[in-house]
Amino acid sequence: MTDLQTFIKSLPKAELHLHIEGSLEPEMMFALARRNNVTLPYASVEDIRAAYDFNNLQEFLDLYYAGMSVLQVRQDFYDLTYAYLKRVDEDNCRHVEIFFDPQGHTERGIAFADVIEGILGALAQGQADFGISSHLILSFLRHLSEEAAFDTLAEAEPYYHRLLGVGLDSSELGHPPSKFERVFEKAVSLGLKSFAHAGEEGPPSYVHEALDVLKVDRIDHGNRSLEDEALVQRLADEGMVLTVCPLSNLKLCVVDDLKNHPLKKMLDLGLTATVNSDDPSYFGGYLNDNYIRTAEALDLSKEDIVTLVRNGFKGAYMNGARREKLLKELSDISAEF
Ligand code: ADE
Ligand code: ZN
Repeated sequence: MTDLQTFIKSLPKAELHLHIEGSLEPEMMFALARRNNVTLPYASVEDIRAAYDFNNLQEFLDLYYAGMSVLQVRQDFYDLTYAYLKRVDEDNCRHVEIFFDPQGHTERGIAFADVIEGILGALAQGQADFGISSHLILSFLRHLSEEAAFDTLAEAEPYYHRLLGVGLDSSELGHPPSKFERVFEKAVSLGLKSFAHAGEEGPPSYVHEALDVLKVDRIDHGNRSLEDEALVQRLADEGMVLTVCPLSNLKLCVVDDLKNHPLKKMLDLGLTATVNSDDPSYFGGYLNDNYIRTAEALDLSKEDIVTLVRNGFKGAYMNGARREKLLKELSDISAEF
């Protein structure tokens, strides 16, 4: 291991942008297909991995939704979530805020309760077994209607107190944040936080809408904000957290090379950027891989890396004592290097 890799591995970290369905590894996809008698259009794990070659967000989403077909019962959602927590524990990830896409499951006839109870059960076990604190975010699929989002929010009613907030994901272009103004207004009135993917493929105006119309607490991705100088200034002034996902950006051709990734530029512009994995099993890397490969490509300094990790704790929702403890651990460990 290089010095840089050892350094990154040693730091306690948070992950704020992770779709739990995007952590479905091909091996588990195969095992669950067998367990649930689902036929996959692939002959082997290698075949699945070979199919993960995307030119844009939509090409990925088509496989991501197809992959979900193996998730059928509560235990599947538990196993999926537990496997993710076990994996990021190895990366010294201490806190996670994960998205789930209930509409990708309820549309297939899976009960909302089975999805959420399976995930929440594993999050509780992950806290007990690994000491990883966590929150769950219900994400609406933006290619579906406002009405479908309202129905999903209503289905979640028994679980409002177990959710951190609502999110907005799936096909960005053609589905601006304003399409979901009313359902986000309702969610915020219920005490839920507001998050939205914006500026991944969509224009800076979508980031403006996420801020002004959806009143978001964080922007997921936000890359294309850099095309709008006034927007950059606003994001910096407001200390808005951006949950950036470098390996996702590379795999979905948001950037052509990690050497051209805007992460360093974001820091230099005073933006509160964080590093996250998005859909690690589809994009070829978990949290540490995202830090390591980006740090190598952009020649990030140790100070840059500590800033990114610190931004993750600042942008996370956790009680003050836990945040202080993790920030102290971060500064103590980084001082040793
Ligand atoms: N769903 C899962 N990952 C996503 C991403 N990166 N962008 C939009 N929707 C998603
Ligand atoms: Zn995402």
